[in-house]
Amino acid sequence: MNRIAVVGIGYVGLVSATCCAEVGYTVICLDIDQKKIDGLKNGVVPIFEPGLETMVQKNTAEGRLDFTCDYEKAIAGTPVAILAVDTPTGSDGRCDLRNIERAAVSLAEAITGDIVVVIKSTVPVGTSAHIGSIIRKQLALRGANFSVEMVSNPEFLREGAAIHDFMHPDRVVIGVWGERAEEVMRDLYRPFRHPPEKFVVMDAPSSEMTKYAANTMLACRISYMNWLSRLCEETGADIGSVRAGIGSDTRIGHSFLRAGIGFGGSCFPKDIRALQGMAKEKGLPCELIEAIDRTNEEQKRVLGAKIIAYFEERGGIQGKTIALFGLAFKPDTDDMREAPSLVLIQQLIDAGASVRLFDPVAMDNARKVILPSPQISWCENEWQAAQDADAVALATEWYRFTTLDFKRLRTVMRGNAFFDGRNLFSPDEMGRLGFDYLSIGRPPVHAYEEEAQEPVLVPVLKSSPFHCC
Ligand SMILES: NC(=O)c1ccc[n+]([C@@H]2O[C@H](COP(=O)([O-])OP(=O)(O)OC[C@H]3O[C@@H](n4cnc5c(N)ncnc54)[C@H](O)[C@@H]3O)[C@@H](O)[C@H]2O)c1
Repeated sequence: MNRIAVVGIGYVGLVSATCCAEVGYTVICLDIDQKKIDGLKNGVVPIFEPGLETMVQKNTAEGRLDFTCDYEKAIAGTPVAILAVDTPTGSDGRCDLRNIERAAVSLAEAITGDIVVVIKSTVPVGTSAHIGSIIRKQLALRGANFSVEMVSNPEFLREGAAIHDFMHPDRVVIGVWGERAEEVMRDLYRPFRHPPEKFVVMDAPSSEMTKYAANTMLACRISYMNWLSRLCEETGADIGSVRAGIGSDTRIGHSFLRAGIGFGGSCFPKDIRALQGMAKEKGLPCELIEAIDRTNEEQKRVLGAKIIAYFEERGGIQGKTIALFGLAFKPDTDDMREAPSLVLIQQLIDAGASVRLFDPVAMDNARKVILPSPQISWCENEWQAAQDADAVALATEWYRFTTLDFKRLRTVMRGNAFFDGRNLFSPDEMGRLGFDYLSIGRPPVHAYEEEAQEPVLVPVLKSSPFHCC
């Protein structure tokens, strides 16, 4: 098996296809978005993902990667097709399967031989079987008698680290009905460096559930820490110390324990809701899962509330200017889906503030989802955003924000308040640098009267805490 078709060329599809080409497969990428396909044919990558553009251009030039909107061109003669179309939240809160169902019908119309169909999209339990029956029914209508083997193969890559994650997966989960499909999948993944014992084979329903179970568990840890951060603020504890304390328990570990302004992105919120949808369909209570989502939505408003409260004693938030550092839902991506910054911006605008926005890569996507307003200015860099601002609010922990010249920042700002939604800095250092520094779950610090002579800022954090999915 040397030829693969990938259907749905978004974050997951494009990264999967490109990494497969990189290890030597001939990969044909199919999407219904003609503009996207035309751009990719010319080496234009529609998303920001470190290292991806170069890899796409290289593999296209070397003839291993091609792009099309034509199902026949992509599927005819291809033994393996990977489905990576989007599976958004539907209007009833459950997973909307219409895109993957449409893709299945189109795919079935183009099949010319036996095929293994791999579902990489995140889908509710039973979907692989459902998609299999759509394809087989469509083949029967054509009078075609090809074997169709379905595989569930949830994807665990994290945006921002997607290439590394795909090339070196720390586990591969596959759900299969038969040995042949398992063999095909073992072959497919052979070039990728995963620990052999981490190739986990199971039945398809369990594999489908594994993806939701993993994301919901991680989201649960974040929401728990965010909730705990509020209790820390009320009681005088420091969430950073608590995190260090519980993280060093080997049964708990340090991952996904950082308090902040909530998670966003295309995966956690949607997958939690889909899991709830599954539970409700089966009549199971799911207060625990609902609380993860609800806590997260509340958490997105915590920083805005702090900003508003801070200015209450300083003439009110009305007419104040807040520089917002970071818009994407996490660093190293331009993905704005469900980004906490969106809630913060709306909250500040509703309260009468003006916001000056800057993100290193997500500005274009942000402009598509943030409605124009006279209270919003789009800035080219953090200095333009901070110029004459009454406060800075940090919503995304881009690494470049950790190396800012804070002395200069103080001089370009009108005020001296720094609201850190990601707990990036040491409160003590920020106070010494002359900032009123308010973060999440840690005691606020007000600017120390005497600034240090030559302050050196030591960021608390060196890598992204929220490289979720
Ligand atoms: N983004 C992530 O980090 C991530 C990680 C793991 C799993 N997932 C899952 O992978 C799936 C894809 O996510 P994504 O973020 O890549 O989505 P995306 O929205 O970035 O891309 C989906 C692509 O599918 C295309 N598409 C829709 N219907 C189609 C059809 N009928 N035929 C062909 N193409 C079609 C769209 O045009 C789009 O380009 C989702 O189920 C998601 O939950 C995403």
